[in-house]
This record gives sequence, C-alpha cells and structure tokens, in this order.
Amino acid sequence: MATFVELLTKAKMPIVGLGTWKSAPGQVKEAVKTAIDIGYRHIDCAFFYENESEVGEAIQEKLKEKVVKREDLFIVSKLWPTFFEKPLVKEACRKTLQDLKLDYLDIYLIHWPQGLQPGKEFIPKDDKGHVLPSKTTFLDAWQAMEELVDEGLVKAIGISNFNHFQIERLLNKPGLKHKPVTNQIECHPYLTQEKLIQYCQSKGIVVTAYSPLGSPDRPWATPEDPSLLDDPKIKQIAARHKKSPAQVLIRFHIQRNVVVIPKSANPKRIAENFQVFDFQLSKEEMETILSFNRNWRVCPLLEWAHLEDYPFTADY
Ligand code: A2P
Repeated sequence: MATFVELLTKAKMPIVGLGTWKSAPGQVKEAVKTAIDIGYRHIDCAFFYENESEVGEAIQEKLKEKVVKREDLFIVSKLWPTFFEKPLVKEACRKTLQDLKLDYLDIYLIHWPQGLQPGKEFIPKDDKGHVLPSKTTFLDAWQAMEELVDEGLVKAIGISNFNHFQIERLLNKPGLKHKPVTNQIECHPYLTQEKLIQYCQSKGIVVTAYSPLGSPDRPWATPEDPSLLDDPKIKQIAARHKKSPAQVLIRFHIQRNVVVIPKSANPKRIAENFQVFDFQLSKEEMETILSFNRNWRVCPLLEWAHLEDYPFTADY
C-alpha cells in the first residue's frame, strides 16, 4: 500500500509517483495507464516534457473506466521559465490543463528559478549560443502562480531546482500569500542533498526527488559517468533484501520522507518500482547509502551557469 506525505495545505501527496520526463509521446500513454492500474495515483508531468497531451489521454481513459476518481489522483505539472510574465503564467497553466484534460492540478511548480526570454524556444539563445535570461524573476512569477490557486486552477504551488537562498527570498517576499508546498530537486545516493532537505523540511516544504535512478536515459550520458543502478554497493544492499537496485534507490527516499518519482515506460519496471512498501532499509544501510554522496548531477545545466539565478553554485 502506498503512503502519503502531508503538505502545508494539509493535502496528502502520494510518496511514490510516476516520472514522465523522457517518456516518448508514443509510450507515455501506455505507461500512465499501466501505472494507474497498478496503483500509482501520483503522476509527475511538465510542459517541457512535450507529452502532456498523451498523459492526459491516459488519465481520461482511466477516469472514464472508473478505475480512479479525479480526487484520488495527484497530478503535478510545471511552469517553464519562458512563461514567467503574469499573462503567460496563466496561459501556460491553461495549456497544461487543456493538454492533461483536467480542470485543476494538484500542484503547479516553477520548473526552474531562472526566468528565460519569452518566445517559441524552450531555451532561447543569442547568435553566440548564450542562453538568454528574462528580466522577470521567479518572485514575479510567484505572484501570478498565487492567483492560479485563488482562481482554483491549481490546489497548491511549488518550486523545482531552487537552492535555499532562493527559497529564503521567496519566503521573505512581502505579501506572500501561498507558500511553496514542495521543492522538486535532483536527489539520489550520488547527490544526497542533506542540507537542502533539512532546510526544506524545517520550513514544512516537502522535498520531491527527481532522477532517483540517475536517469540512465538522459540524452547527454557518457560511458564514464557513474551508474547508480550498476553500483556494486547498491546491488549488495538490494541482494540482502531480495530486492532490485531500483527498489533500494526508491526506498531510500521514502525513509527520508521524500517523495520520489521514478520514470519508466516499461510495464514490468513500472510495477517493480511500486513494490517498495514491503521492506525496510536499516539505519546503518541508510547511513551507508548517504555516504555514497559525490555531488554528482544528472542535470547540472551548465549552459545556464552564467545566469544570475543559476541555482547550483550555492553549497545548498
Ligand atoms: P525504462 O523507461 O525503459 O524503464 P530516472 O527515474 O532516474 O529518470 O530513471 C529513468 C531511467 O531508469 C529510464 O531509463 C528507465 O528505463 C530506467 N528504469 C526505470 N525503472 C527501472 C528499473 N526498475 N530497473 C532498471 N532501470 C529502470
């Protein structure tokens, strides 16, 4: 049986969700349908993943088949940073709702703290290839996000890829009406995020871990990169519990009260990734896994590192 974490709004967020980043439009519909049949209730989406329409078809079919009710699903999506200007925030949210075929989202996140120049390109660049920022900041976007809550388009709002200085700026924003309920960050045994998790949880902000398996399907992977799923020490712990390395990597978050969103487009692995509520890692095993930290990122977004709100230069 899946478990939940409670948000600042008192809503319950299922601790395991299905990730959809890198799920091809032709595969994601089956993946979401399979996941819902198996018992997943939380689906993590984003406009940036360019597959929300297919995710929406899957959700719609399962609602029609009465496999689930809307109120039992927990659907998250994200505002891409070229849409930080107020009218664009609303437009982007409506587009996501339309694609997902829903009349509200459970959480809408700011996908990334650095605003980008509005336009058709996801990542606008000048002719020298430099990423182009916008003057509109996440603080401006936040105000528009708050209106989405007030208008009932979204139940709660949150952030993704924010460091603690940026969260602090947001929490100190004069007139703040709605606090972020979650910060979705990269987290796994090679990037354990102890300080940022401690900080977020001390503020009542739930942490959601993306790339929990190290995203071996990331397009920029090289053979020299470390591989969590092949790590002999993770394999050893998995063998001790008669579980797979993926199940250990997922369970690691659950025991830190961190929401986790493994991506799979394969029915067998979607099921496997949900079989994580029938075993317990010992305190020693948790500590051992934490010791694997090497501050290695799947998503360093180094191309954006020159921009003011690039989040990963801060210690946490
Ligand atoms: P696939 O979609 O073919 O199952 P992350 O969630 O860290 O982004 O990782 C997603 C990647 O991990 C995908 O390549 C996915 O492949 C793979 N994956 C997902 N679940 C498992 C699993 N249980 N065992 C091995 N690989 C998995």
